[in-house]
Amino acid sequence: MNISFAKPSLPKAAALVVGVAEGRALSATAARLDSRAGGVLTRAMAGDQFTGKSGQFLPILAPHDLKVDRIVLAGLGKLEKFDSAAAEKLGGAIVGHLAASRTAQASIAVDAHKESPITAAESAARLAYGASLRSYRFGKYRTKKRDRDRPPPRRLTVMVADPAKARAAYRPLSGIAAGVFLTRDLVSEPANVLFPVALAARARQLTDDGVKVQVMGEARMEKLGMGSLLGVGRGSRHESQLVVMQWNGAPKAKTRTPIAFIGKGVTFDTGGISIKASAGMEDMKWDMGGSGVVIGLMRALARRKAKVNAVGVIGLVENMPSGSAQRPGDIVTTMSGQTIEVLNTDAEGRLVLADALWYTQSRFKPRFMVDLATLTGAIIVALGTERAGLFSNDETLRDQLMAAGDAVGEKLWPMPSDAAYGKEIDCDIADMKNIGSGRGAGSVTAAKFLERFVNKVPWAHLDIAGVTWSKKGSALVPKGGTAFGVRLLDRLVANSYEVK
Ligand code: BES
Ligand code: MN
Ligand code: ZN
Repeated sequence: MNISFAKPSLPKAAALVVGVAEGRALSATAARLDSRAGGVLTRAMAGDQFTGKSGQFLPILAPHDLKVDRIVLAGLGKLEKFDSAAAEKLGGAIVGHLAASRTAQASIAVDAHKESPITAAESAARLAYGASLRSYRFGKYRTKKRDRDRPPPRRLTVMVADPAKARAAYRPLSGIAAGVFLTRDLVSEPANVLFPVALAARARQLTDDGVKVQVMGEARMEKLGMGSLLGVGRGSRHESQLVVMQWNGAPKAKTRTPIAFIGKGVTFDTGGISIKASAGMEDMKWDMGGSGVVIGLMRALARRKAKVNAVGVIGLVENMPSGSAQRPGDIVTTMSGQTIEVLNTDAEGRLVLADALWYTQSRFKPRFMVDLATLTGAIIVALGTERAGLFSNDETLRDQLMAAGDAVGEKLWPMPSDAAYGKEIDCDIADMKNIGSGRGAGSVTAAKFLERFVNKVPWAHLDIAGVTWSKKGSALVPKGGTAFGVRLLDRLVANSYEVK
């Protein structure tokens, strides 16, 4: 979808979207149109189906005396509550509405409202951002168009009094959207296309954004002693990879300690020898979701030139059963020196992260580490698809993450981390086992496992198994890969970690 900003005019567009605040209060543009067209807007609102509440739309077809094919009244809700988040949501909803009515081209008129907490330019930029996020499609494998496809409009013009200002406010937002789109692309790719080496190659493309990218293969990881990560990949024909991405955007970058993001990148999770049931196994193509978020986040930070030093580390493996696969009962030695008895080869994400986390803290001594992983089915039982699980050893980081998640609508929920849960993974013949003894709290024991590899660095773990893929979609997220975490962590950085 092509988005542009322009000064207000009466366009020949197929559809012109104008705002109406709650209580049928026409915005300035709407009022002008209404008087030019003999009160058709006011009459259309006479019933009680459209009152200007947010989420409401009312199309007026072929309005008399006007050149547009259609005017669409869009509910703004209460103007005092029309903030950036509301503007983004409205932009997304507008694209949803226009796609449903198969509109190829539209203009949106954004007016100033003195009651609203944001300026018209900011509102225009946020609207465009929301529209863009919602317009995403993963269409590369469809060779024929179908009737029931609802493509977003090809062109969207946002009309506002100061288009230059809106354009400037939109620029960093479009950088974040580019990161979100990259993550969605990666998560949507099938595993025959996106195996570890291929995913590493996609990460390598971030060099075009000014990110330093280093890719390590199995030989290098062997030397580093990453027996835990390598054990998971042993059953696959595809070579495992560890990718390190560095964005040095802070002024005097060399003197500043980085923050770090770590992602689980299991490009396909069959379960290995502890093989999964076949029903739904196709979902395990997105078991690299955590690494996808880290890659997209690095693009977002680089594209908007965030004033921060950030590193991204992703462990990429394919978990397959074969004659060379790791067996239940195998004992592996991690880079940290700690040993693990692998009792279930399907609890593989934590084995990958164990070495990735240890490597990250020992090489970079970061201010904090946040890892993301589609780690446990149990987190879906606990929180469903609404919130991701948040585990942390640091109260400040936990609060910052909660606030950032609430702000962007990628919501987290704090989970417990009592030492007692950690006892569940104590083992008789190795330092730990990779599954808990009891049957409950599988997400918590998994987090306690990870904690043994963070070496006291402030750390948080986001279990994103329930939120990485959406079967229904929402205002800013079409169904499919969500990129949950990119906007959240970008906001965390913007709120608390950028040099002013
Ligand atoms: N990738 C899965 C977790 C998962 C399940 C993500 C469903 C998304 C949807 C993970 O590797 C896994 O298999 N976890 C096991 C752990 C168990 C063996 C202790 C699980 O959750 O069943
Ligand atoms: Mn698994
Ligand atoms: Zn997995």
